[in-house]
Amino acid sequence: MPIRRQFAVRAIEAADVKARSIEPLYVKALHRLLAAHALAEKLTAQGYQRALASIDNPAIRPILEKNFAEESRHAALIYGLLAELGVSESAAERMMIRARRAPSFEAPRYFAERAESEIDLVMASLSLDMTGLIMIGVNYQESSYAPHSRAAESILEEEADHDLFAADELREVVERFGAEAVSASLRQWLPKAVNFFGPPGSGFGYDCLRFGLKSKDNEELAELYLMMLERRLAKVGLELPRLTPSYPHALV
Ligand SMILES: [Fe+2]
Ligand SMILES: [Fe+2]
Repeated sequence: MPIRRQFAVRAIEAADVKARSIEPLYVKALHRLLAAHALAEKLTAQGYQRALASIDNPAIRPILEKNFAEESRHAALIYGLLAELGVSESAAERMMIRARRAPSFEAPRYFAERAESEIDLVMASLSLDMTGLIMIGVNYQESSYAPHSRAAESILEEEADHDLFAADELREVVERFGAEAVSASLRQWLPKAVNFFGPPGSGFGYDCLRFGLKSKDNEELAELYLMMLERRLAKVGLELPRLTPSYPHALV
């Protein structure tokens, strides 16, 4: 049964939170959700920065520069929302110490720290930009916290651009490196990409849904992602690798 949301889209402003007229649990869930969103943007920015240093393909350099600048702006924007609520970037990072090591952060962490080839770059973009677009478009844009909803709206178009890059580059690397090499990388990345949506049915997830900070459960978004990805892969002659059904997903 769907969980009824307690607050409508954009019902709450920063001033309401600061006036302490909102229940503490809402504020706690909001802090955590924003900290997770900001960290995902920051790690994605770091990934694009590393790609700029390690990938020698002048044809995509301007796009990498653009994506790096935009992801940095997204991170700054969300850390700015936290600052407005009295949470500093380092305090937000501390909130994420455990989450950062969880399967849900493996994809952004891998992109920020270890990805190296152009195929990795495409997989990172499919794992982070395509998923990010879904989370931002479906969940955050409809947030009951008005500043997060507005920020999502201002990020959305750029994320759609990043997703387009992922789609174009996918075709490109299949042509250049062959379906087999891309398929092997996809098998490595796909579990991380799907896990990025987070565990289904958690207490935190329930709070986000009932407070209207999210509209859909993680699992629903993960399914939507897999459906869209399968269609995209089919266009370039690739198959979606099979995954185990429950979080954290692994290859079958
Ligand atoms: Fe972003
Ligand atoms: Fe992006």
